[in-house]
Amino acid sequence: MSDIFTKVREASSALEAEQLLTPQALETFRIRYLGAKGLIKSLMEEMRDVPNERKREFGQVVNALKQQAETQFQAAKAALETQAEQSATEQLDLTAPGEPLPLGSRHPISITMNRVVDIFKRIGFAVADGPEIEHDWYNFTAMNTPEDHPARDMQDTFYVVDAPGMLLRTHTSNVQARVMTTRKPPIRIIAPGRVYRNETISARSHAQFHQVEGLYIDEGVSFADMKQTLLYFAREMFGAPKIRLRPSFFPFTEPSAEMDVWLGTDTEENCRLTKGTGWLEILGCGMVDPQVLENCGIDSRQYSGFAFGMGIERQALRLFNIPDIRLLFENDVRMLQQFISSL
Ligand code: PHE
Repeated sequence: MSDIFTKVREASSALEAEQLLTPQALETFRIRYLGAKGLIKSLMEEMRDVPNERKREFGQVVNALKQQAETQFQAAKAALETQAEQSATEQLDLTAPGEPLPLGSRHPISITMNRVVDIFKRIGFAVADGPEIEHDWYNFTAMNTPEDHPARDMQDTFYVVDAPGMLLRTHTSNVQARVMTTRKPPIRIIAPGRVYRNETISARSHAQFHQVEGLYIDEGVSFADMKQTLLYFAREMFGAPKIRLRPSFFPFTEPSAEMDVWLGTDTEENCRLTKGTGWLEILGCGMVDPQVLENCGIDSRQYSGFAFGMGIERQALRLFNIPDIRLLFENDVRMLQQFISSL
């Protein structure tokens, strides 16, 4: 007898525990509690076993249970319906025209570096890489730049205060040392990257800029090979008819030269970029100093080679007719958006 009352109480807490989060759960609930063969109906049928004096009380608790089940059912049903409505309005209309995604464009410096790399790749140079935060051995010592050389002056170089011997590389020539100490000739690499110098920012120079380094080491590599390679580059890059090599000095090459590319003086822009001479200076180069080969563990009696390092910014100014180097670093999208390139 008391069993039947206990059953009702248990059913009431079972109801509370029901989670009606899906239409399927809701339907199962309805069948289990409110259906024609459901729990409430069967409890009603047990009424006949209840003694007369408790029939009334039993009727009340079963009714309350029915009420509880119905309220719960209705509430869950309403909640599921609003949810369905909301997701219907949020649903994607696949027939609607798409929202245009704004397309980015490459930075003129990246475009320029990619073009340079592309040109050298065509004649068998592979891309190599080196760190921007570099040990002074790779940046200076290996490259035949002794400790007291003026290029190491605090004025010219950013040193890492917390890491003795570490600096921001002043040129991509560190990649020469990185490659020569880890590979055997023949070596034919091109190394694009960012470099740093402690310079005052102006229309012509910046404390951070970009270079592409080149290195070619093999048996019997000559100055003539270098000249022809660089001429090929100047023609491909600028359509330049000729180049000029002026004697120069770098600690890591001997002999050394600066290379100018003939742009001519026929346009105002050419005059501005070449300061009226028609010659645009774009790179330093030379035959790798035998001492550098030895520093990096390459036998200088067997091998020779040439190296060059070119500035990228000036070439970008020329390629895209940009009047001021600072525009390259301001990253104003209105300016950057103008350059679309497949490279
Ligand atoms: N590293 C030199 C510079 O930054 C350029 C260079 C590279 C010159 C390789 C000769 C050979 O000015």
